[in-house]
Amino acid sequence: MCGIVGYVGPDAGARSLDVVMEGLSRLEYRGYDSAGVALVTGDTVFAQKRAGKLANLRSALESEEVPVSATAIGHTRWATHGGPTDENAHPHRGGQDGKIAVVHNGIVENFHALKGELLEQGVSFTSETDTEVAAHMLAAAFAETGDLTEAMRLVVGRLEGAFTLLVVHADQPDVVVAARRNSPLVVGLGDGENFLGSDVAAFIGHTKQAVELEQDQIVTITPDTYSVINFDGTEGAGRPYEVTWDAAAAEKGGFDTFMEKEIHDQPQAVGDTLLGRTDAEGRLMLDELRIDEEKLRAVDRITIVACGTAAYAGTVAKYAIEHWTRIPVEVALAHEFRYCDPIVDERTLVVSISQSGETADTAMAVRHARSLGALTVSVCNTHGATIPRESDAVLYTHAGPEIAVASTKAFLAQITACYVLGLYLAQLRGETFADDAKSVMAELHTVPDKIASLLTSMDRVEEIARFMSDTRAVLFLGRHVGFPIAMEGALKLKELAYIHAEGFAAGELKHGPIALIEPGQPVFVVVPGPDTPNDLHKKVVSNIQEIRARGARTLVVAQEGDEEVTPFADEVIRVPHTSPLLQPLLTVVPLQVFALHLSTAKGLDVDQPRNLAKSVTVE
Ligand code: F6R
Repeated sequence: MCGIVGYVGPDAGARSLDVVMEGLSRLEYRGYDSAGVALVTGDTVFAQKRAGKLANLRSALESEEVPVSATAIGHTRWATHGGPTDENAHPHRGGQDGKIAVVHNGIVENFHALKGELLEQGVSFTSETDTEVAAHMLAAAFAETGDLTEAMRLVVGRLEGAFTLLVVHADQPDVVVAARRNSPLVVGLGDGENFLGSDVAAFIGHTKQAVELEQDQIVTITPDTYSVINFDGTEGAGRPYEVTWDAAAAEKGGFDTFMEKEIHDQPQAVGDTLLGRTDAEGRLMLDELRIDEEKLRAVDRITIVACGTAAYAGTVAKYAIEHWTRIPVEVALAHEFRYCDPIVDERTLVVSISQSGETADTAMAVRHARSLGALTVSVCNTHGATIPRESDAVLYTHAGPEIAVASTKAFLAQITACYVLGLYLAQLRGETFADDAKSVMAELHTVPDKIASLLTSMDRVEEIARFMSDTRAVLFLGRHVGFPIAMEGALKLKELAYIHAEGFAAGELKHGPIALIEPGQPVFVVVPGPDTPNDLHKKVVSNIQEIRARGARTLVVAQEGDEEVTPFADEVIRVPHTSPLLQPLLTVVPLQVFALHLSTAKGLDVDQPRNLAKSVTVE
């Protein structure tokens, strides 16, 4: 939610604008309501900003003379306080002399009170943002101290809420100062140049050497140095690490959109998430968890906290983990968990699932769980992000950078990682199903090839999507692990194609939603394999007949060789055979492809759907 970039390079350097614009283009997925840059030049700071996508800023910059500069900051916005206008776009200036500029990600929760004080002092405002308050406060603090780091320290002491702030000042031209609380910030270390970014994508084209910061820290970068202090003024330290992916991983690789590329990355995302997690005998080994095995054996309840797609991954995992471990698993939407007086103690394992690791709702849920004594494990795709850092342990998904706002490959990697965790717990506890762990892991290793082969047979799904570009509502049905897949299919369609879509448990249909069925209503049905226990397959086939009898157009996702569905399906989309609990890793793929192509057919922006942002860092 908002992307920020900072750069400081050699004195004679002229590349700060290019570096910052490149960084913003890689971070645009974090928010695209407006974009802006500020460049330190001579005794002033040049700034330009525009509502709308980065392209608007780029054309504004092309039509004017932009000064040469070695120091710059940039911002791409997901609007919170104040609409998406030029005035509310960042950077914001403070004071009257045009010497200071600030960009901000997050929300300053006490901004009304602070703004009131500033107004009383005669300060005038040009925007409706909370950020401008910080900009004026920084200008005043710099006037008092003459030092940007100290000014930042004074100001953050008065701010409440979540923020990453970057500031530049013409009187300290080769310095960018940044502060973070509950909002992401990483440092990139170059040769004679240093970088700041909301995530490493901001500078991955220039360096792989990064430094992770703690909460409530201030970092000051110059071309050759970086230094960290804590908000209380004591010396702090960052944790240096090397980024393991390169710029190519964050590019489209020949596909038209990031989402299409990321759908095709899925075999690798699943494969990489399994890598290195079994020993030579095929037994799971998760030394990386670094949690005392006794504590894990003592766990008697698991609560999964997550939002959106990640919560659907958690719901899929619930069925599998309960089956393998016989531990009760509850899935809680993170924003509800935090406020529902949850039943949690030291024998509760709270598993958070988050691609970004920065989702504020999920981070708050994890903090709350820890405060109640729970053991916390983060399933996360972003190295060093807030949630893994604040959890007792982390199991990284290895999906690589996910740029498209709608999650695809991270979803599959999250299910995979949760399965690995569930099987590990079963193995540790020696449950009945511990013996299954090896065979399930062996089967999981076959899934990447099956996804790859499935992806080669999506032409008909693409055609169906194109034919349906004027459809107004689509329903999705599933049972057991197919139920969260139905909800995920509906979510993908809502967010990408702006079509009303609902996912239901197929058994629930006759309790109300069947009233929605009218002639021609398209309904996707995720059918469990014929070998699913408890005759589930038959029950879903009956559900298809019930809706077909009422005129529904049935789009059936079924296993290869399942001929029982054929007479009742207007379209059958085939997926390769797997055992029942692994089916979600395949059945979701056609639903993702469908949403992608329906969105494209409607001429919409697949990678950056309206009103959304990749990483939701506000509650
Ligand atoms: C939907 C989507 C969102 C995210 C949710 C959680 O396609 O991407 O629903 O899954 O906002 O985000 P993370 O996983 O970053 O915590």
